[in-house]
Amino acid sequence: MQKILLTFSILHFAFYISTATAQQVNETKGFYQFLTDDPNQKPFFSDKKGVFASNGMVASAHPEASRVGVEILKAGGNATDATVAVQFALAVVHPSAGNIGGGGFFVYRTAQGQNYTLDFREKAPLKGNKDMYLDAQGNVVAGLSMTGHLASGVPGSVDGMAEAHKKFGKLPWETLLQPAVDLAEKGHILTEKEARGLNMVKPTVQKVNPNTPYFAKPDGQDWKAGDVFVQTDLANILRLIQKKGRKGFYKGQTAKLLVAEMQRGKGLISKKDLRQYHSTWREPLVGTYKNFKIITMPPVSSGGVALLQLMKLVEPYPLKRWGWNTDSTVQVMIEAERRVYADRAKFLGDPDFVKVPVQELTDPNYLKERWRSFDFAKATDSKALQGGTIAGYESTETTHFSIVDKEGNASSVTTTLNGGYGSKVVVAGAGFLMNNEMDDFSIKPGVPNMFGLIGNKANAIAPGKRMLSSMTPTIIEQNGKLHSVVGTPGGSTIITSVFQTVLNVLEHGMSLQQAVNALKFHHQWLPDKTVFETNGFSENTIKKLQSRGYILEVQKNTIGRMDCILVQPDGTLEGGSDPRGDDTSVGH
Ligand code: GLY
Repeated sequence: MQKILLTFSILHFAFYISTATAQQVNETKGFYQFLTDDPNQKPFFSDKKGVFASNGMVASAHPEASRVGVEILKAGGNATDATVAVQFALAVVHPSAGNIGGGGFFVYRTAQGQNYTLDFREKAPLKGNKDMYLDAQGNVVAGLSMTGHLASGVPGSVDGMAEAHKKFGKLPWETLLQPAVDLAEKGHILTEKEARGLNMVKPTVQKVNPNTPYFAKPDGQDWKAGDVFVQTDLANILRLIQKKGRKGFYKGQTAKLLVAEMQRGKGLISKKDLRQYHSTWREPLVGTYKNFKIITMPPVSSGGVALLQLMKLVEPYPLKRWGWNTDSTVQVMIEAERRVYADRAKFLGDPDFVKVPVQELTDPNYLKERWRSFDFAKATDSKALQGGTIAGYESTETTHFSIVDKEGNASSVTTTLNGGYGSKVVVAGAGFLMNNEMDDFSIKPGVPNMFGLIGNKANAIAPGKRMLSSMTPTIIEQNGKLHSVVGTPGGSTIITSVFQTVLNVLEHGMSLQQAVNALKFHHQWLPDKTVFETNGFSENTIKKLQSRGYILEVQKNTIGRMDCILVQPDGTLEGGSDPRGDDTSVGH
């Protein structure tokens, strides 16, 4: 075995030497040329500039939500207060993913350097079971886990916010809900993208909710940019939550409306499900990359484990010297992703139900062993690669926001309905959308979900169990100080978008905003192909990778919608919000 490892190391060393020469030439050129091996290729989706401020920053998917967060910071609130206000504001102004009918993860680092993670992921209803989306022949009933009442898990967002506020909040809960109430009651002005989104989803929402006119414009026309979108029923529910805290959602009028809605559409969520739902503080997952400390979400997120694995897998390689998206850099990243997503399918699930071997999966020796089947000469065949062996022993709409307050407390929150506008079920009389998070379970071993992800027994449905997630809210430290806050929506591409954005900053010398703007690619083991944004790879990279057997495909949709914050050496905060959406950083 030692002999094999030695040969492997020598081969890799020889490869470093041969690649170094070409890259050194590139390094003498300007910034763009340093980043890519093609002087004509522009590696960024746009030239959007970062936002800079000293007293606090909120980066989110919507300008109104970021404004709300900063108002809370200015009023003396801390990062948790702003988190609560932004989460509820997004439920109003960003209905495709912001939510009270969904769930998410909260990663928090105090200014003193203590780390916390809160899991407010949805749960399978108590009446759920592993075969609930299969027909009598054991085949998956297409669409059942994605659209309609049966697709929803028990929502966790309201409990999560109440729990975070109880532990860290400074300002009164009522104050934090007021902006969302106002936005729902008085309406907010639609951007072009939102108007387009509402027009697109309107027919499905109306089909699923035939008795309620949600998302229809009062004059029956299509929505357009500049229209004011008023949500009166939602405003009333937000008032109840404002007055009663979690009970305003999980009990009383809201619970009654939600359960009635479920019964109308043969959904499973009961009063008992709502009463019993509680979010869970979990031990943060902490790893290192060179001299950086990475604080991220443990299972039931697969994102944290996967990110730590990816970072460790690529750590030995000279990515900086090779350059951004050169063939060798991309090849190593793809092969790391292939191995990590294979592990995800085999081992990851809800730690309250299955043993997830986190230590083992992130162990450097295990990861070194995973490189054994890698050969620079040709792509590894995904079919021939399974999750690793461990001794003794699984629409892209979601939304992420990052907040740093004046003291340096930082929160990284990713929250979701799963697909765009979730299950498309709007709770009648309550005006909020329900998630379709049940599709994140492995509804049948080996059958891909809406993101093409395959799962196994570890992520099978069981009553009260949480479905596996890819959400990767993350905080990075350097020398004991806050370095950055990162995260994104994007279903299965969340993990790889965070991975690339972090490497763009730590290895490729990009500013945070450039790292966010940078074009992205993605590989997830199966299907065995690499998708990339238009112009994401130079001709040279494409040719070389194809000659080694890689299947490459330009992705029509964009990849990632990052909202991140970086602390500059002088303490100034850089907010980096993705140009691919309405995302906006606001500082003060
Ligand atoms: N629903 C997307 C995720 O949690 O990964």
